[in-house]
Amino acid sequence: MEKIIIFDTTLRDGEQAPGASLNRQQKLEVAFQLEKLGVDIIEAGFPVASPDDFKAVNEISRTVRKSVICSLARCIPLDITLAAKAVKPAKRPRVHLFLATSKIHLQYKFKKAQDEIMKIARSSIRIARKHCDDVEFSPEDATRTEKDFLFRMVEMAIDEGARTINIPDTVGYSYPQEIYSLITDIRNNVPNIDKAVIAIHCHDDLGLSTANSLSAVMAGARQVHCTINGIGERAGNASLEEIVMAMKTRKDVFGDFYTGINTREIYRTSRLVSKLTDFMVPPNKAIVGGNAFAHESGIHQDAVLKKRITYEIMDPHDIGIADSQLILGKHSGRHAFRDRLRTLGFHLNDEQLNKAFWRFKDVADKKKDIYDDDLRTIVEDEIRLMRPVWKLVSFEINSGTKIKPRAAVVLDKKGKMLTGQSSGDGPVDACFKALDKITDFKAKLEDFRLEAVTSGKDALGQVSLKLKIAKSVVSGRGSSTDIVEAAVKAYIDAVNKLESR
Ligand code: KIV
Ligand code: ZN
Repeated sequence: MEKIIIFDTTLRDGEQAPGASLNRQQKLEVAFQLEKLGVDIIEAGFPVASPDDFKAVNEISRTVRKSVICSLARCIPLDITLAAKAVKPAKRPRVHLFLATSKIHLQYKFKKAQDEIMKIARSSIRIARKHCDDVEFSPEDATRTEKDFLFRMVEMAIDEGARTINIPDTVGYSYPQEIYSLITDIRNNVPNIDKAVIAIHCHDDLGLSTANSLSAVMAGARQVHCTINGIGERAGNASLEEIVMAMKTRKDVFGDFYTGINTREIYRTSRLVSKLTDFMVPPNKAIVGGNAFAHESGIHQDAVLKKRITYEIMDPHDIGIADSQLILGKHSGRHAFRDRLRTLGFHLNDEQLNKAFWRFKDVADKKKDIYDDDLRTIVEDEIRLMRPVWKLVSFEINSGTKIKPRAAVVLDKKGKMLTGQSSGDGPVDACFKALDKITDFKAKLEDFRLEAVTSGKDALGQVSLKLKIAKSVVSGRGSSTDIVEAAVKAYIDAVNKLESR
């Protein structure tokens, strides 16, 4: 059996999805979970993009030990040295270089001839190899590149010491048969191709990224680039969960291959990435969507009860659904709390643990049974911003069918108590208007969603919203057993994010 190397780029291409930005602490959380999931390579970021990206890649390199840590660079000396420096502390560092090779990019983006591009790529790979043994090279927009030039470029990259050659379908333009032919042609026309691993990197502009990635595997690619929940530029990247579960489920087709992924961590990872990026997973998303294992029609329900495989091709347990157990209650101590968080993949420092523990105690006073999903929500809420500018002190609402709702909110701004009062169309609107008065932000609500974290009438409610403040759109999240409080917290989370920018 041959291993298919899983290269996860959630923290780089995934984070390039509009609005999906993560702070350093959140990136670290995701990286720990990706390691637990068993991904072979974590593309941790693009260090030249910002000092914070550099620090995030560097911190991940120092703390995550099992996966290879990879850092992206353009074919520019400064990018390369920064990328190499960021991953230097990693046990197994990798530098990933990219340079566009298609006629369209050469003509309009670079205004350079093929020979010049070849020269830049060659010298860049040389620089990268001086800093790092493990170099991956991507001819960007490879699927729209003239084949002869692509073959020459790949041959040169391998000669210069690139160990992995990635073939990006940068704009998601290809279809599966085309990808199959391209990988086959590369294997047949690049004389030194046996010295490198062929990787595939597909975007989902036509909804073909998973099919294209699998087609590449059938043709000889042995590394697949993907992201959790398929997040990424524009329509996103090929999704890890779809590729891995397709290979696991269709053993009749992919029986010669295996991955190192612990599929039971898929659901947990999907939830974590969705929460931290504020990207909701659509209910009909394959594998991890809320409806992926739900059977609505009576005929289906009846058949599934008789024999699950009638309408279910995968066991939800295999991706970690339904593993959520009743675990803690109000009598649970700090020890049990910390142990459970470790099992769930959270690595908190003392300050974070303390904060999360008191929040847990507060929720446990109102909610008898605390499930894993509740715990994740509590912790993710508490570690989003450790030193917020604005803190909720209290709020009061007066609402009913015969009165105009009114709210009074008290916030703490760096030790100063500020109060705002307002009426509104409903209790949440009244609170938001009162908050506007305190913060002076005049926020426009662009999106508002409420979901229950677990079931039952004492379930934690979680509000995710987007606020437009001046020209910025910021997302926020808040949870509570009281949905108005969850909404107030989500508003405060969003304005704190804005302040931290
Ligand atoms: O889509 C793309 O071409 C990329 C490269 C940086 C590999 O993300
Ligand atoms: Zn990409």
